[in-house]
Amino acid sequence: MNSPTSRRVPIVAGNWKMHYGPTEARDFAQSILDGLVAIPSVERVLCPPAISIAAVHAVTAGTGVWLGAQNMYFEEQGAFTGEISPLMLRGLCQYVILGHSERRHYFGETDALINRKTLAAFAHGPRPIVCVGERLEERDAGQTERVLTTQVRGSLTGLPIERLSELVVAYEPVWAIGTGRAASPQDAADAAALIRALLAEQYGAAAVVGVRIQYGGSVTAGNAGDFAALPDVDGALVGGASLKPDFIEIVRATARAKG
Ligand code: PGA
Repeated sequence: MNSPTSRRVPIVAGNWKMHYGPTEARDFAQSILDGLVAIPSVERVLCPPAISIAAVHAVTAGTGVWLGAQNMYFEEQGAFTGEISPLMLRGLCQYVILGHSERRHYFGETDALINRKTLAAFAHGPRPIVCVGERLEERDAGQTERVLTTQVRGSLTGLPIERLSELVVAYEPVWAIGTGRAASPQDAADAAALIRALLAEQYGAAAVVGVRIQYGGSVTAGNAGDFAALPDVDGALVGGASLKPDFIEIVRATARAKG
């Protein structure tokens, strides 16, 4: 009999952040495409800057490699200078990263705002990859559980229970992002178990079995397999290493560990 976890398809997303304009993005995507296409057992998602999404879509369309946006607003349209609506992402992006720690900390995004965006994603289009994670001073002060509890309860409230399997949560400890200091697999496993338990409190255990939880923070080709080997971790959200062909190796290591 299949264990409940085996129903979850692993997902590895590459967050390119503010790297690669349209031409570079298209060329880079083209250069890694064959490698990614060869690993269909993992959902592969490229998240270019918004201005480059269409250029990358031109090469990924029909390949099974999905696109994600790095952010969006919750309104459908209107006078919101500089923002992108969920409707605009439809047809291009299957996913959208919401509440990344850089959005939370540099741009002041709150759990309440991230919740509105997450609800808009469920209402209109791309599947949300919602990021949570504690800062170093919070971890050192023993507050990891409190921070994750606040973020999960605040940003993931009121979601449609019957569609929770469309939700992806990325556990990204802020101190591990871009630092070369990844969390230990045990830390990632503990956080993933906590996140699932918090969701189960809100929605019931059965409804959250299909939610996928990624680990993010200094994921490399060398450590991706260790995280993917954890039963509660369903893949990775990758920053720096997704800008290089190493991304293919990360997807491959994930496929191997989950295989
Ligand atoms: P990193 O970034 O892999 O460069 O640490 C991860 C992220 O911000 O999603």
